[in-house]
Amino acid sequence: MRKPIIAGNWKMYKLLGESIETALALKSLVANTNHCEIIIAPVFTALKTVCDRLEGSNIKVAAQNCSTEQKHGAHTGEVSAEMIKDVGASHIIIGHSERRQFYGETNESVNLKTKACLLFDLTAIVCIGEMLAEREAGNAENVVKSQLIGALEGLTVTDMKRIIIAYEPVWAIGTGKTATPEQAQEMHAFIRQTLSEMNGKEVSETIRILYGGSVKPDNIESLMKQTDIDGALVGGASLEAESFSKIVNYK
Ligand code: 13P
Repeated sequence: MRKPIIAGNWKMYKLLGESIETALALKSLVANTNHCEIIIAPVFTALKTVCDRLEGSNIKVAAQNCSTEQKHGAHTGEVSAEMIKDVGASHIIIGHSERRQFYGETNESVNLKTKACLLFDLTAIVCIGEMLAEREAGNAENVVKSQLIGALEGLTVTDMKRIIIAYEPVWAIGTGKTATPEQAQEMHAFIRQTLSEMNGKEVSETIRILYGGSVKPDNIESLMKQTDIDGALVGGASLEAESFSKIVNYK
């Protein structure tokens, strides 16, 4: 059985005070939830404070990015996986499409960042997903497959058991245009099949694959009913504790 995960990506939305406020409100709203893992991803500047405030709760904390560099040194502006671990976070979102589109993230950098995560015992949430034009050209599966192979190159079976995949079709992010549960299920099944070809069926059956792209309280239930959808990575609807808690408590 794969335990579901509901993760909230706060992107570059909240100041420190707002991050604390939302985290604490969420903490009390989901205090009794244990059917799924709950993760929130604040900005770097709020990471330590949010980790401290949520210590001992059922909410885990993720960073939204990390450096490709594993060793500390002269890398101005970078934050290492070890530094993220040091302040109490347990997960890192890697290769989000906004980073791929606007900040030069490539399959190679995603691969290096994933390895940095694993080295410091953090769980990588590896994001993949096609653009609208790629889907319309009938290329969605090819794109997703090459992102997957590129991101996970060189990982052992043991490593694979410690990562999470997030499928986020770019055309569904922040657009209000969710993939239908059937479209999402079809791609998730394809991802699991690809993982099975890469590392065997046993591993592919244990990896959690999250869906992201306009997930809201009113569409989460139908998405979660799909066999290969193991959770959600939520943007906009995770910014308010109330709406995010409704997604967390989808059943
Ligand atoms: P939205 O839920 O706002 O579409 O964002 C999805 C996302 O990018 C999560 O990482």
